[in-house]
Amino acid sequence: MRKEIKIKKIISKTRRVLKFPKGFLWGAGISAYQTEGGISRNDWAVSAKVPAAGLACDHYRRYVEDFAIARKLGHQAIRLSLEWSRIEPEEDQWDENELHHYFDVLQLLKDRGFTTFVTLHHFANPLWIAKQGGWANVKTGEDFADYVGKVAQSLGQFIDFWITVNEPDIYAGSAYVSGIFPPFKKNVLLAWRVLRQMLSAHNRAYEVIHAYYPKARVGFAQNVLALTPFRQSSVLDRTLVRLGNWLSLEFPYRRTRNDFLAVNYYFHKSLKFVLNPAAGFTDTVRPRGEVSDRGWEIYPRGLLEILLRLKQFHLPIYITENGLADARDRKRRAYLTGHLHAVAEAIKKKVDVRGYLHWSLLDNFEWEDGYKWKYGLVEVDFVTQRRRVRKSAKFYARICKTNSLTV
Ligand code: GCO
Repeated sequence: MRKEIKIKKIISKTRRVLKFPKGFLWGAGISAYQTEGGISRNDWAVSAKVPAAGLACDHYRRYVEDFAIARKLGHQAIRLSLEWSRIEPEEDQWDENELHHYFDVLQLLKDRGFTTFVTLHHFANPLWIAKQGGWANVKTGEDFADYVGKVAQSLGQFIDFWITVNEPDIYAGSAYVSGIFPPFKKNVLLAWRVLRQMLSAHNRAYEVIHAYYPKARVGFAQNVLALTPFRQSSVLDRTLVRLGNWLSLEFPYRRTRNDFLAVNYYFHKSLKFVLNPAAGFTDTVRPRGEVSDRGWEIYPRGLLEILLRLKQFHLPIYITENGLADARDRKRRAYLTGHLHAVAEAIKKKVDVRGYLHWSLLDNFEWEDGYKWKYGLVEVDFVTQRRRVRKSAKFYARICKTNSLTV
């Protein structure tokens, strides 16, 4: 007994409570096609090559319940996306009912005191956009600007943080290099064009939003990679890392205007140079550490490294995605602790991080893999649509409510 008390004392002595800055925003994210259900007029819904999301989480009808859960869990911010194909099902045809729906959703969030992060494009395109060649066609950038203007006009009053496009590099890579997203192309040159086009569309959207709301906070979500050379001693491996950092950080941020940086962090890659042009001279070495259900390495240190690199841009930073596939909820708690510890360290080193939105609030449709991976703080039974709060969500709730983390 005595011994136990002694051990407890030692533990509590070595435990540290890390306080986050006052006003730090806590919450979680979702996106429209992954959760809403009933979306039939975008490029994902009609494609035979990928599973359809179908009813998904039926979040379109259950958003009141879902946001009440988020509230109970101490979340103060929500990231969601608007479905372009609902709002503009055909070119220049605006669906007022759908705009009303999003009006109600966002108004509810504001009434409940949430800070809103609204994504305007999250991997899905209306069919008419897909038919005109999607993001490979310059016209799509113009159409996107019209849609953004309509959203600003109709819903802008409820939007605290605007995220124009989600992960342009992942989108371009998945849809135009690996060919796993519609339109399933494998053409590096086209991917490069799409990436540049999306970044220009962001800049244009930035202007449009600011014309309506001069004080708006506008950014785009970037998937940032933690890159390390496979062999420290190899100049070639280190060059690959430098190139990778340029592509995933410097290039997108230097050619865009932003009021804040929206950072999505999942990946660590150890890069090894190989004499194989077809592989882009790169071999990404299999991770050695702990992995998620999906085999993605859990590497919290990478988040700290990235945040330190991002300091050079002198903008407020929000983590807009970070999370893991973990159906049995065995690793989420440690994952949260590790990554939030990294965030706290970065803040201590004077990086201006102001919020963290976990991916995801709900288990949802995971793109090319359908419903295979469970990212939710809240488990969803896709047959009954019942929600069940995972243990780790309660752990995260304590962090949100106390604005602190014990390590
Ligand atoms: C992305 C998307 C999310 C995913 C999440 C997990 O980063 O790919 O923004 O829609 O669901 O990243 O893979």
